[in-house]
Amino acid sequence: MTQSTLDNLSREDRRFPPPDDLAAHANVTADAYDHAEKDRLGFWAEAASRLTWATEPKTVLDDSRAPFYRWFPDGELNVSYNCIDRHVEAGNGDRVAIHWVGEPLDTGSNEHRRDLTYAQLKDEVSRAANALISLGVQDGDRVAIYMPMIPEAVIAMQACARIGAVHTVVFGGFSAEALAARIEDCQAKVVITSDGGYRRGAPAALKPAVDEAVTKVGGAVEHVVVVRRTGQDVTWNDDVDVWWHDVVDSQSTEHEPQPFNAEHPLFVMYTSGTTGKPKGILHTTGGYLTQASWTHHAVFDLKPETDVYWCTADVGWITGHSYIAYGPLANGVSQVLYEGTPDSPERGRWWKIIQDLKVTIFYTAPTAIRACMKQGDAIPGGFDLTSLRILGSVGEPINPEAYVWYRRVIGGDRAPVVDTWWQTETGAIMISPLPGVTHGKPGSAMTPLPGISADVVDDKGESVPNGSGGYLVVTEPWPSMLRTIWGDDDRYVDTYWSMFKATEDRAAFYFAGDGAKKDEDGDLWVLGRVDDVMNVSGHRLSTTEIESALVSHPAVAESAVVGATDVDTGQAVVAFVILKEGVDAEGIERKLSDHVRSEIGPIAKPREIMIVPELPKTRSGKIMRRLLRDVAEKRDVGDTTTLADASIMQLISAGQSTNTGD
Ligand code: PRX
Repeated sequence: MTQSTLDNLSREDRRFPPPDDLAAHANVTADAYDHAEKDRLGFWAEAASRLTWATEPKTVLDDSRAPFYRWFPDGELNVSYNCIDRHVEAGNGDRVAIHWVGEPLDTGSNEHRRDLTYAQLKDEVSRAANALISLGVQDGDRVAIYMPMIPEAVIAMQACARIGAVHTVVFGGFSAEALAARIEDCQAKVVITSDGGYRRGAPAALKPAVDEAVTKVGGAVEHVVVVRRTGQDVTWNDDVDVWWHDVVDSQSTEHEPQPFNAEHPLFVMYTSGTTGKPKGILHTTGGYLTQASWTHHAVFDLKPETDVYWCTADVGWITGHSYIAYGPLANGVSQVLYEGTPDSPERGRWWKIIQDLKVTIFYTAPTAIRACMKQGDAIPGGFDLTSLRILGSVGEPINPEAYVWYRRVIGGDRAPVVDTWWQTETGAIMISPLPGVTHGKPGSAMTPLPGISADVVDDKGESVPNGSGGYLVVTEPWPSMLRTIWGDDDRYVDTYWSMFKATEDRAAFYFAGDGAKKDEDGDLWVLGRVDDVMNVSGHRLSTTEIESALVSHPAVAESAVVGATDVDTGQAVVAFVILKEGVDAEGIERKLSDHVRSEIGPIAKPREIMIVPELPKTRSGKIMRRLLRDVAEKRDVGDTTTLADASIMQLISAGQSTNTGD
């Protein structure tokens, strides 16, 4: 965090009170904070009672094996029943669950546009559940999902949940390598994919990456189920491949959802850590759904009878799990699911969808807001956005300029912005304004939600006074918390619970990896990661993972990767590379950039690659990333006194950088 960021933040004195009518009819009012403060577990028990349990839990929290906490451990429920069947039973079967919009414009053939009611969703999910069973999938088995944003992605997730299978959704932008590593780590026996999906105006293939991944993991995958979306050619292996329409469509629409224990695994979501190997974050059933559903109800002031909700995240990220596939469905609202990019086939595509479907709640990422802001006010100005009543932001700190633009141009100076802080690991929103209560400050996530205890502490774990910065920690367990790292309990404890260990007076704090500041009023400003994890367009990437990818290229001897501030993407990947002796350096930056793309995926592609003769290291051999960040951000290089060889920085700074472009 730089001094100028802190100065800039402390000058912010704009306040946006909640609109009167929203405050008057808000789902959650200020007394929720007091109630939760007095009886935190009672508060979460009440939130859990919004779900339908087959066996009501008697215990709220079991902390006897902390930090392996268990929530509602004697309760039983079925997630898919809660997200679908109970709405149909309540007489809401005709309500649209998913307004699906494909990227190509609708030609009237329904190829690119579909509305699925809750009753239809129940049939589709039941069929898919029966199909998975027919393929030998049992509760506890893992299923990998590698899909575009089409209804079958959500149907597949819900079908797994319905039969107690554990899904791991891998973002469709990840490479075959990344997919294979995830399939291997959780030993998925079935992969659900599609021939491809539409992205930026053209069909983009997915099946070839699955073919490659399946070969790599050598026999672990028994079946690949393929949805036909684009109609493009696919290579077919009769031993493993089956079409979705062959295996799903013929199944019965009857499937009796069976209850599972509240701590039954629901899904594994892989995310970047500070070492090369992605971490499989495990989420379980009852606590996860309780918090995903309650926060969606509270933070978006959700009125399921009248709202049309839209979250633009991909189902391959945690946001697409908690705020597309689970929270909104558990709450029985109508939501938009959009396949494509904001500007295909034309700029303003998003705003047109909002206008056409009369979207009332919109949830997106700061990087997308900044991209739209750059195109000017005229594009959204050409659409009727008056249906919008609440705007959400997630994934990275939202800068005050982007917040104010979002509120003014998209929200018509009427719709409050909720800046929601959370992580893959937290499972659901933790720190956020409540739209009917909070007087929002542009750039601040404000305060922990009722029932959540978070603080900013110094390196001894002491709470810092207002006006100071430090480490953002969660001080009490919460229902949707991760339960472990798949297959690696030790890494779970080391990564999250060892920085602020238990003392005589308190349990260990969960350390989230973020730095934050408490302002003079005690409101929280998340300042970004303090570890070697970058945040590019709201996506977490590990520096080590990209370094390993670079070093796996035969021309590279050593590399160091840093996240440099970027006006569009928040941070961007900048790589410093030492080439092996005698390597032909002609066009090497391009080759290396393509290599990273194929090893990890396009999101990890470096913005710049600098070929350098040496890397700055301490005497103990640790790379000094702080200095590389200075170079990447074109600043004067800071204190070099701990460098083993101080002359190296002059060599590096003098070197040529190459923008790898697109
Ligand atoms: O650094 C924080 C940033 O995103 C990280 C979590 O990334 P991921 O697990 O991929 O989940 C993203 C979607 C929940 C955090 O450690 N982050 C997320 N939301 C915010 C944020 N930083 C500041 N403000 C936010 N609202």
